Amino acid sequence: MLERMDTTWETERIRAQYPALKNGAAYLDGAGGTQVPVGVIDAISEAHRSGLSNVHGPFASSRRSMKLIADARTAVADLVGGEADGVVLGPNMTTLTYRMAATLAKTWEPGDEIVVSELDHDANVRPWVQAAASAGVTVRWARIDPQTTDLPAEQYAELVTPRTRLVAVAAASNLIGTITDVAAISQIAHASGALVYVDAVAAAPHFRLDMASMGADLIALSSYKWCGPHAGAVVASSELLETLRPDKLEPSSDEVPDRFELGTPGLANMAGISAAVDHLADLVAGEGDRRQRLGRSFAALAAREDVLVRSTISRLTGIPGVRMVGSPSRRTGTISFTMGAITPGEVAARLGKQDISVWSGHAYAWELTRVLGIRETGGCIRVSLAPYTAESDLDRLVAAVAAMADDCG
Ligand SMILES: Cc1ncc(COP(=O)(O)O)c(C=O)c1O
Repeated sequence: MLERMDTTWETERIRAQYPALKNGAAYLDGAGGTQVPVGVIDAISEAHRSGLSNVHGPFASSRRSMKLIADARTAVADLVGGEADGVVLGPNMTTLTYRMAATLAKTWEPGDEIVVSELDHDANVRPWVQAAASAGVTVRWARIDPQTTDLPAEQYAELVTPRTRLVAVAAASNLIGTITDVAAISQIAHASGALVYVDAVAAAPHFRLDMASMGADLIALSSYKWCGPHAGAVVASSELLETLRPDKLEPSSDEVPDRFELGTPGLANMAGISAAVDHLADLVAGEGDRRQRLGRSFAALAAREDVLVRSTISRLTGIPGVRMVGSPSRRTGTISFTMGAITPGEVAARLGKQDISVWSGHAYAWELTRVLGIRETGGCIRVSLAPYTAESDLDRLVAAVAAMADDCG
């Protein structure tokens, strides 16, 4: 029997699940953080209502808390095709990446090397650069192609040497949407025995990740970018985590992945993480286990975002004064532009007054905005899509930008 495959995108059914959309705002800053569906809100609320307690206690509420953590690990593992025992949970990606950098740096020796990229959000740059400085390790930089704003994978053949211990690279740019060829980069890194740390914060909301085919040894995520609560995760194999010794309190668990987690986690958020992954898996109708359903949802989401992004770019480029920032060959649902006479901050402020939320500035794409020559001029305006984005949100955006251009014209 044929598997039922209904990948129809039902925007209104999805939007109806987001209470925050009822205020009429056009939320076009998914890359900064998404709204959350009622399933996530209810799961967090229900966790509190049913009673939570410190973990490892001899009572039901403690067991409930531990189950929430275990379920969140399984959900995150499903999201990236990883192993639940390799899921390290924490407050956000930045904190976890600093922790992983400090831990991995203990295994580095002076004269070793690491590779970071100028495409990346600073959270996948500075923790490594600073850890390298403390360990006497050389930092090499992967450059973007300034014409295409792609991150050419071939350059890693020159950058990676037998001394390379780690390659840190984004799966997608948070500012201009560039999707990188992580698999090709990993292949080069692995040939020299280097580990690959993938920042998937800006990729995970747009396409289904698969650690194995990407060759990611460690992959970092933020659940508040994919309709979940403010929490982060780093996923690795439990085998790799077993080899690493993070700084930790003496009495805290020495097990993997627990020994990478500091203090008491946001317990109710754990319920929200699982509910967010369930929500993503159910964006389009279909059968199968959660991982299969995630594959189907993301295939439909990526196709939809591609259409929306193309039409929005073509409409925006027709507006006098609008200049697109970045023209990568593959991109997520993220568009950036500048407007000549009006600074990005001013554009975002004017749109904000009309309840159209977009980001402006460097968005922590610190090196990238320098390389693109826009850091000193206020960066750019970033429009980023989420599963609940409606065509009418983008129509509003384009009309408001056109009206602004007319005002200036
Ligand atoms: C690509 C990317 N990496 C890392 C981060 C940092 O994530 P967090 O806020 O969870 O520390 C962000 C946040 O915007 C991001 O977009």
